[in-house]
Amino acid sequence: MERHPDQLEQLPVSVLDALPHPVFVIAPDGRFEFTNAAAEQFFQASFAVLQKRPLDYYLSQSSPMRTLIEQVRDSRSPVSEYHVDVSSPRLGEDKWVDVYVAPLVENPVNVVVWLQVRSMADTLDRQLTHRGAARTVTGLASMLAHEIKNPLSGIRGAAQLLEAAGSEDDRTLTRLITDETDRIVRLVDRMEVFSDERPVERDPVNVHLMFDHVKELTRSGFGREVQIVENYDPSLPPVLGNRDQLVQVFLNLTKNACEAMSGVEKPVLTLSTAYQPGMRMASPGSRERVSLPIALTVSDNGPGVPRDMQSYIFDPFVTSKQNGSGLGLALVAKTIGDHGGVISCDSQPGATHFRVLMPTWSAQMDGTDD
Ligand SMILES: Nc1ncnc2c1ncn2[C@@H]1O[C@H](COP(=O)(O)OP(=O)(O)OP(=O)(O)O)[C@@H](O)[C@H]1O
Ligand SMILES: [Mg+2]
Repeated sequence: MERHPDQLEQLPVSVLDALPHPVFVIAPDGRFEFTNAAAEQFFQASFAVLQKRPLDYYLSQSSPMRTLIEQVRDSRSPVSEYHVDVSSPRLGEDKWVDVYVAPLVENPVNVVVWLQVRSMADTLDRQLTHRGAARTVTGLASMLAHEIKNPLSGIRGAAQLLEAAGSEDDRTLTRLITDETDRIVRLVDRMEVFSDERPVERDPVNVHLMFDHVKELTRSGFGREVQIVENYDPSLPPVLGNRDQLVQVFLNLTKNACEAMSGVEKPVLTLSTAYQPGMRMASPGSRERVSLPIALTVSDNGPGVPRDMQSYIFDPFVTSKQNGSGLGLALVAKTIGDHGGVISCDSQPGATHFRVLMPTWSAQMDGTDD
């Protein structure tokens, strides 16, 4: 706390340090006059280092942040702007923030800047979009059940009749018909999960026992060649959920991870659990905010999700695999949404993380947030 030796001033600093959003004060010469802990993290430098540099050092020549700060200094009134691009060689590519800039009351030539990094806001936006995508499939799924499954069972039956009477050559063809119709029925069955709008039956689920089961199924199935690492927080409380559905969700994620690591020399799949009390989200259709403190992550060291696909992977029918249906992650997003949770993906070559945030069991049972 060398920044503020005065005892009385320590309280606001610790309050600002507790915020997850970068807050900093810029002096008229463009230098940092104050930074909270999140700002140090955002600029990847300590206050001692930041103090010696102007903010411009971190921004690109054309950054709209420069204009915003000048504008506030001249007009002496606050400005906020959404979706501001702060990408630069020093801050990294594809960095977007919401910005609030205001003059300091006691010394208006200094301006205070508050940033909200877009990725978290986008996670929430996208989660709502995933729900929309799942709804699109819902209508399609119930239509398919009628219009495709019924005629298919007729086609299959006819092929079986032909098979009984036909030659060996005919039988190869009729078997092709029955195998392919079976494949389509399986696909339609998978899609029917989307049209299941019944409320989920939920009980307290011990996350680690659930992960153990997923690990066993993965190890004995598609993950035979893969090293599985557990990184658990043993004090984690139970989540309120449907165990079978959660097992299916995490199997979809471990299956994708194992498939992605097929060309990796030392494939490592990591299952992590953590308690992160900071994450809150508005529940759909109400103004009430729920906390989602339980973080369950599936990570792999595969080549990563192709960059151009990253914004769409939770949409149905998005796949890069020859025999993929592209329904795995859409189902994951639907199930997690039904559970009141969110899922996000953070992926670069060698490190892909699918992170699910869920409410705790006790939080829901007693009707409070934390
Ligand atoms: N761990 C991962 N690493 C790299 N890419 C991934 C990973 N997980 C998913 N993807 C990408 O996201 C796409 C969509 O995944 P999803 O599970 O929805 O469908 P799929 O695996 O292609 O087919 P299905 O799950 O229906 O068999 C994948 O095709 C792949 O390109
Ligand atoms: Mg998949």
